[in-house]
Amino acid sequence: MDFNRTVLVTGGSGFIGSHLVCSLVTKHPDWRIINLDNLDYCCSPRSLESVEDRANYTFIRGDVCNSQLVNHIFNTENIDVIFHLAAKTHVETSFETPSSFQRVNVYGTRVLLGAAHQAQHQPQRFIYVSTDEVYGEGLDQVFDESSPLRPSNPYAATKAAAEYQVRSYWDKYKFPIIITRSNNIYGPRQYTEKVIPKFLTLLQMNKKCTIQGTLPKSRHFLFVDDAINAFRLVLEKGIVGEIYNLGASYEIPIMQLARELVKMVKNVPDSEVNDWLELVPDRACVDLRYPISCEKLQQLGWRAEVSWTEGIKQTVKWYQDNPNFWWDQGPIRWEVEKANNQYVGPAS
Ligand SMILES: NC(=O)c1ccc[n+]([C@@H]2O[C@H](COP(=O)([O-])OP(=O)(O)OC[C@H]3O[C@@H](n4cnc5c(N)ncnc54)[C@H](O)[C@@H]3O)[C@@H](O)[C@H]2O)c1
Repeated sequence: MDFNRTVLVTGGSGFIGSHLVCSLVTKHPDWRIINLDNLDYCCSPRSLESVEDRANYTFIRGDVCNSQLVNHIFNTENIDVIFHLAAKTHVETSFETPSSFQRVNVYGTRVLLGAAHQAQHQPQRFIYVSTDEVYGEGLDQVFDESSPLRPSNPYAATKAAAEYQVRSYWDKYKFPIIITRSNNIYGPRQYTEKVIPKFLTLLQMNKKCTIQGTLPKSRHFLFVDDAINAFRLVLEKGIVGEIYNLGASYEIPIMQLARELVKMVKNVPDSEVNDWLELVPDRACVDLRYPISCEKLQQLGWRAEVSWTEGIKQTVKWYQDNPNFWWDQGPIRWEVEKANNQYVGPAS
C-alpha cells in the first residue's frame, strides 16, 4: 500500500508517545507511522496493543543514539515528519545518573537531527517535544516562548541543551523544526514514577502518598488527549522555526493533589485523609511552579477540552481497572524497595 506521509515517532512506546502513535495510526490510515523506541524500563508494549497489527504501524526496537540504525532508517524509509519524544524523563533519576540523560536527551537528539538533515528524502517537519522545566522556576512570573532558559535540574538542562541543538538546525540550515514546551501531562498508562500514577499506585497498594518536603510546590496538569491534539495541530498549522508553549490552566499544589486522590481512591471523610499522607525528605533542588502562557498555541486554534475533574476521573478509573499493568516493570522502584516485607502484590 502507498502511504501519503511517513511519520517517525521516537519514544512512541512511552506515555505520551503511545497516545500519539495510537492517535496518528487510527486517525490517519493513509499515513505510515514508525515508532523507534528502545523499550526502556518506563514503557510497556501493552500500551500499543490496540494498533500493533495495523497495516500502517511499524515498530523498530532501537536506540536513538545508534547513528548507524538512525541513518539507515532515514535512508530507507522516506520520513516526512519526525516527532522526537524519546528521552530519559524522570527528574529524580537525573540527579543520580546525569550522564545517561546527557547521552539520550542531548547526543540522541544530535544523532536524529543529523540523520534527518542529511537524508536524501527531506523531512517536512522535525517536532521536538520539550518541557516547561527548561524555564526553571517561575514564582510570580509567567513564561512565554521568549523567556530565558534557566533549567535547574539535570533533566531540564539536557532538554534545554537538546533544544539549542534543534534551534541551531533552523538558524544554520532552515531545517524545518518546531519546538513544543509543555506543562505536566497526565492520563492513563503513565509509568508509576511520575506523581499522579505514583500516588494512585501507592494507594492501590494500601500505602501512603509520599509528599516530598514541606515547600508549597504546585504543578499545572494537562490531560494527555489535549496534548496530543496540540501536537497534531502544531504539525498542521505550526510555523517552522517557532516554539510553542503547551500550557494547562489547572494548577494544583502537590499536597492538595494527594488529598484529592486519597478521597477518590479511598473514599474516606476529610478527617481521615491525613492518615494516607506521609512527608518524606525532598531533593536538594526543587522548582516550586512552572507557570507558562500558551497564547501562541491558542492563536493556532488550540484549547484544552478536558477539564481537570473529567481528566482525573478517567485517569483514576484507568488505574483502578488496570492494577497490574505496570506490575512486571516493578511498580514503584524506590517505594517498593523500602516497603515492608509483607507486601505481596497490588490490591485489586
Ligand atoms: N510527561 C510529561 O509531563 C512531559 C511534559 C513535557 C515534556 N515531556 C517530554 O515528552 C517526551 C515523552 O515523555 P513521556 O512522559 O512520554 O516519557 P516516558 O518516559 O514515558 O517515555 C520516554 C520514551 O522514550 C524511550 N526511550 C528512552 N531512551 C531511548 C533511547 N535511547 N532510544 C529510543 N527510545 C528511548 C523510552 O523507552 C520511552 O518509551 C519526553 O521527551 C519528555 O521530555 C513530557
